[in-house]
This record gives sequence, structure tokens and C-alpha cells, in this order.
Amino acid sequence: MLHRTLILNGPNLNLLGQREPEIYGRTTRAEEIPGDFAGLMLNAGAYSHTSIALLDALRALKEPLIEVHLSNIYQRETFRQHSYVSLAAKGVICGFGPRGYLMALDALAALLNDAS
Ligand code: DQA
Repeated sequence: MLHRTLILNGPNLNLLGQREPEIYGRTTRAEEIPGDFAGLMLNAGAYSHTSIALLDALRALKEPLIEVHLSNIYQRETFRQHSYVSLAAKGVICGFGPRGYLMALDALAALLNDAS
């Protein structure tokens, strides 16, 4: 079964590959695909830690959400160790660099296949 997945990136993640590569790696961001989707992978960047508005919007979605962070936010500053996005997410993958997106895709595919 094929499912369309939406991958969303938050602020400053357009700079992947150039921005603090010692933290975020050298892989650049791929194009995003708009349209209908069955599930969602989201790296909301710093909004993860600050935005109740984003949480409210995510809670309005019925599709499953996987939260992704390139870095291990729990090994970083205290203000990064809380995520509002997590409150709306089925699960969180962090600390694996760009590979985390593939891990999240795998998790999302399993969730969607289980549900169909
Ligand atoms: C990030 C972690 C956030 O704390 C930071 O603000 C980012 C990137 C990550 O992918 O590791 O912009 O979401």
C-alpha cells in the first residue's frame, strides 16, 4: 500500500548543509511536496520548543505525526529539551542526523500500514 507523506521543516532548516554543520551535518534539504497526505513528518526547528500555536494546529490534524530532530535535543541546552510538538506526535526521532528522516518514514509507513 502506498501512502503520501508530508515532510515539513521549520525555520532555518532551509540552511541545512551550511548551518552549524558540526551539529546538523552537511546534507542539504530536498524539495518539499505539497498536496494530500496520509501522515506527517515534522522538524519544526526552534518552534518545537516555543510554539503553542503550532501545537494547536498539529492537534487539529487527524493524520499521524512523527517529530524529527537532526540533533539529540536532550543533550543540548535546557530550553531545547522540551518540545510542544511532542505533545501532538505519535513518536519522536532525534539525534540521528538526516538518517532520522528515513527512520521516521519507516515508522510512519508501519503506522499507516497497521491502520489500513
Ligand atoms: C533542530 C533542533 C532545534 O533545537 C533547533 O532550533 C533547530 C534544529 C534539529 O533538527 O536538531 O532548528 O530541530
